[in-house]
Amino acid sequence: MKDVKEYAEKNKDRFVSELVELLKIPSISADPAYKKELLKTADAVKKRMEEAGCDLVEICETPGNPIVYGEKIIDKNLPTVLVYGHYDVQPPDPLELWDNPPFEPVIKKTAAHPEGAIFARGACDDKGQMYMHVKALEYMTKTGQLPCNVKFMIEGEEEVGSESLGWFIQRNKEKLANDVILISDTGMIAPDAPSITTGLRGLSYVEVTVTGPNRDLHSGLYGGAVANPINVLAKMIASLTDENNHITIPGFYDKVEELSKEERAKMAEAPFDLDKYKKALDLDDVYGEKGYSTNERNSIRPTLDVNGIWGGYTGEGAKTVIAAKAHAKISMRLVPNQDWKEITELFKKHFESIAPRGVKVEVNPHHGGQAYVTPINTLEYKAANDAYVESFGKTPIPQRSGGSIPIVALFEKELKSKTILMGFGLDSDAIHSPNEHFGVWNFLKGIQTIPLFYKHFTKLTKK
Ligand code: BES
Ligand code: MN
Ligand code: MN
Repeated sequence: MKDVKEYAEKNKDRFVSELVELLKIPSISADPAYKKELLKTADAVKKRMEEAGCDLVEICETPGNPIVYGEKIIDKNLPTVLVYGHYDVQPPDPLELWDNPPFEPVIKKTAAHPEGAIFARGACDDKGQMYMHVKALEYMTKTGQLPCNVKFMIEGEEEVGSESLGWFIQRNKEKLANDVILISDTGMIAPDAPSITTGLRGLSYVEVTVTGPNRDLHSGLYGGAVANPINVLAKMIASLTDENNHITIPGFYDKVEELSKEERAKMAEAPFDLDKYKKALDLDDVYGEKGYSTNERNSIRPTLDVNGIWGGYTGEGAKTVIAAKAHAKISMRLVPNQDWKEITELFKKHFESIAPRGVKVEVNPHHGGQAYVTPINTLEYKAANDAYVESFGKTPIPQRSGGSIPIVALFEKELKSKTILMGFGLDSDAIHSPNEHFGVWNFLKGIQTIPLFYKHFTKLTKK
């Protein structure tokens, strides 16, 4: 596979323009108005997988958005790599903060991407990263170097909780049988500090509503005499963390695994520049749980964050009103051993218990998932490690991420195989934010590294 670099360089413009076409389709899974666009994206992905050399590609219907399944089986006695990715994207809002429209991709240089980056919603999360796998397959088939079997499973509901994927896996265990699952939907530390993601946080996402009087009231006539749901909600949320930014929900930390001194020291060896981190976000300081470093706070520790809060009058000018209702969306990022359903229950019980008389409180769970960690003394990890060494000339750093891909824990449980998370995005790529982008260099580096994983994995597992 000495020629993979050359192949990617030679075909770079075509690869980028194919990705650009995919990025033009607004496959926003959160909004039912975009259902047609999701179907269109699934079709486009199917076509690209066929062109890349899959023998069979199917659009698999589910109760929700379809899953694109593809395969190229060359020999039943060889190992099988199952590639997972998602073709759905986050909503692009707020639109006015984009320098270019989110579904009209442009290529621009940035400090982190001197060779240019593709700006569009989904560029990095996850169309760009998913497409690296399609192009890696193209390289392997067109040059006669595919060393093992490959299956693709590209879903359209990752950004909304992957409900249909769970449904699909339950019904297709045989079809999805594999020896390793390969995903590019995370990030890496830096171009000169490659890393392999060894952990993902779990998630519990809830929506809360505080209800006061049976109608909006005049804040002069009633102010001070009845509970204001917005005031009450603000107080309740504030009480969920203490002065050390420790979460106060009883039982919340019961199952949290404390890392050993050695493990924490090892983590601290990963390159990290706090000043740069603050500067990139225009912050005068970081903030978080006492006793933990920034990297620990956003990977090995559980958290609680308000993602949205609303109620009352937010239009032009002033309106004197006590709103009847106040709402918030709250996410809790979880770590291994915390069960997301149990945490959701603990939250609900606690949140209802701290409501003062004079209001009613409702807690509605949205979705969630388990955290994931993978050991690094496995054959799968070694294959990934060797691929990075060959591609980057450096040993990759194992790193636990703060993000969540809830379906990964389910893969292990249902399909009984390990997952390797080979991410090529950078933190500065602004996934889920305005001006999301993906470096052209990162895109090509992914395409060049993936076939090497196939090569090393096949070599290490060959019976
Ligand atoms: N690709 C991300 C997750 C991610 C990004 C993990 C970077 C690690 C590093 C994924 O698409 C995502 O956004 N997941 C959601 C959870 C989902 C249930 C909506 C998340 O982490 O908020
Ligand atoms: Mn993603
Ligand atoms: Mn995402």
